[in-house]
Amino acid sequence: MRTQLSDIQRMKDRGERLVMVTAYDYTSAQLIDRTDIPLILVGDSLGMVVQGNSSTVPVTIDEIVYHTKAVMRGSSKALVVSDLTFLSYTSPEQAIQNAGKLMQLGGCGAVKLEGGVTMAPTVRRLVDLGIPVMGHLGFTPQSVNQIGMRVQGKTVAHARQLLEDALALEAAGAFAIVLELIPAALAKAITERLHIPTIGIGAGVGCDGEVQVWHDILGLYSDHLPRHTKRYADLGSTIEQALNQYAHEVRERSFPTAANSSVIDAKTLTEALGEQSVSLGANAKVSV
Ligand code: KIV
Repeated sequence: MRTQLSDIQRMKDRGERLVMVTAYDYTSAQLIDRTDIPLILVGDSLGMVVQGNSSTVPVTIDEIVYHTKAVMRGSSKALVVSDLTFLSYTSPEQAIQNAGKLMQLGGCGAVKLEGGVTMAPTVRRLVDLGIPVMGHLGFTPQSVNQIGMRVQGKTVAHARQLLEDALALEAAGAFAIVLELIPAALAKAITERLHIPTIGIGAGVGCDGEVQVWHDILGLYSDHLPRHTKRYADLGSTIEQALNQYAHEVRERSFPTAANSSVIDAKTLTEALGEQSVSLGANAKVSV
């Protein structure tokens, strides 16, 4: 059975840390399924790490649906949360339609959207219709063209605004809130004032949990390594080595070998193609 919203709340109540990681395809979802990570985010960060864009802005709702389907096929235990994309929730009606797509076509169990007080009525509508919503405050990547990529909440007014935003999302029925790129002490203070869990990224250890991008923690994305991440593996180098070895073996004809090939008996081949056809390459095998 997949992680339920009640499991997530219980984890906060018991002081158990919540772990979330992004995934965008079947194979990575299968790998996550081999762990006990309870939350997967099909994030619009795929705009950068999968599509090679410079921000999340170009990502469309149909692309998130596509990746959500793949992730759902590969995972069986985690709650899968999918991102509502830039300009896909400009009104409650549009949000309902697009959240509906993510859940009905993609199959995810919850959606995430960016914004606080101004998004609260939309969150309320979604929740009233049975759509679990995760909020996202602080550095909200879909607004990068307005706010730049920097730590948020460093002034009195902005810190107060973030708390107000978090309380508004909670009151509207959000089941958790991502806090991205805000000072650790502010994230902790907000976390302590909320009943629902906070999930940090670049927000210190005082949140109830942490979310990180698959490619960042596994060393698969080299365009930009944010300070708030940590590489737990260097899969990029491992893959590069493997690809070079593969290319070398193909060029020197040590791959594929007979074990990777299939056989046909010489008589059948001669009968099919004529005498000369049995002059096969060095590694080809003809069973007699
Ligand atoms: O899209 C994403 O991966 C996110 C995380 C950075 C929280 O929103």
